[in-house]
Amino acid sequence: MTHAAPLLLIGCGKMGGAMLAGWLNGGQAAGGVHVVEPHAEAMGALAARSDVTVHATADAVPADLAPSVVVLAVKPQSMDEALAPLARFVAPSTCFLSIAAGKTIGYFETHLGAGAAIVRAMPNTPAAVGRGITAYVANAHVTPAQKTHAHGLLESVGEVIEAEREDWLDPVTALSGGGPAYVFLLIETLAAAGEKAGLPADFAMKLARATVSGSGELARQASEPASQLRINVTSPGGTTAEALRVLMDETTGIQPIFDKAIAAATARSKELAG
Ligand SMILES: NC(=O)c1ccc[n+]([C@@H]2O[C@H](COP(=O)([O-])OP(=O)(O)OC[C@H]3O[C@@H](n4cnc5c(N)ncnc54)[C@H](OP(=O)(O)O)[C@@H]3O)[C@@H](O)[C@H]2O)c1
Repeated sequence: MTHAAPLLLIGCGKMGGAMLAGWLNGGQAAGGVHVVEPHAEAMGALAARSDVTVHATADAVPADLAPSVVVLAVKPQSMDEALAPLARFVAPSTCFLSIAAGKTIGYFETHLGAGAAIVRAMPNTPAAVGRGITAYVANAHVTPAQKTHAHGLLESVGEVIEAEREDWLDPVTALSGGGPAYVFLLIETLAAAGEKAGLPADFAMKLARATVSGSGELARQASEPASQLRINVTSPGGTTAEALRVLMDETTGIQPIFDKAIAAATARSKELAG
């Protein structure tokens, strides 16, 4: 889908840069993109494109710009400062799309006005390779067309799923927001365990990294549920069954540990959101 109105991107770091590259490659920036980013030099070739206009501050954005979407991709701690000059863009035809962790729809309504159309989204770091997953929620001022547009912009860095309720965003943050860290930890722990079982460190790490990334790709491509993929690897009475007996123990296996971890991260997300 193309939109003639320009996009306005606030913050073009890791996440904003990945999204901008996705929009440009995916033809989602037909109306051009205005970018507010103090470190234009870090944007590389993106800043040199004819359909991208970079401003060092929001005050430098043309007064008559009427963006279809203002994408907020600054760190949560920079958001107050970033929002201050943006209230002038609030209009029924403009939707604000935030990817900042922990910044609630109520927070944006306080800063931009209760009538602003706001989408709050939570992506994750595989977005950097176009393989993220983003959950989002929209307030009542977001029209169906704006929601479709926001959904499409988020899809430039991976899969997208709409949350029915904003309070889902806390467990979403715990599960998929932090999830890549748990998977990287799995690589580390698998490798360390392999080393303790007698393998050289580098050798064990190569096996662990390829096993986790390859299994992830298999899970993505396969039509079977994860439980069936697990069963497919497990011969009765074999070696994998022995490991799973330990890992799937109801009291000492990984489920109770993940229950605790996700509950702790969810509680922390609620605390940070205030
Ligand atoms: N990275 C992730 O994996 C991830 C995952 C989920 C959600 N998010 C969310 O995505 C957002 C961006 O994260 P990131 O990792 O992409 O951050 P980042 O790499 O630090 O990028 C943010 C960029 O915005 C700039 N900036 C700061 N204040 C600004 C302002 N007032 N106007 C315009 N630009 C401004 C920053 O400059 P300075 O360096 O000078 O401040 C920086 O270049 C965060 O809110 C984060 O919660 C990130």
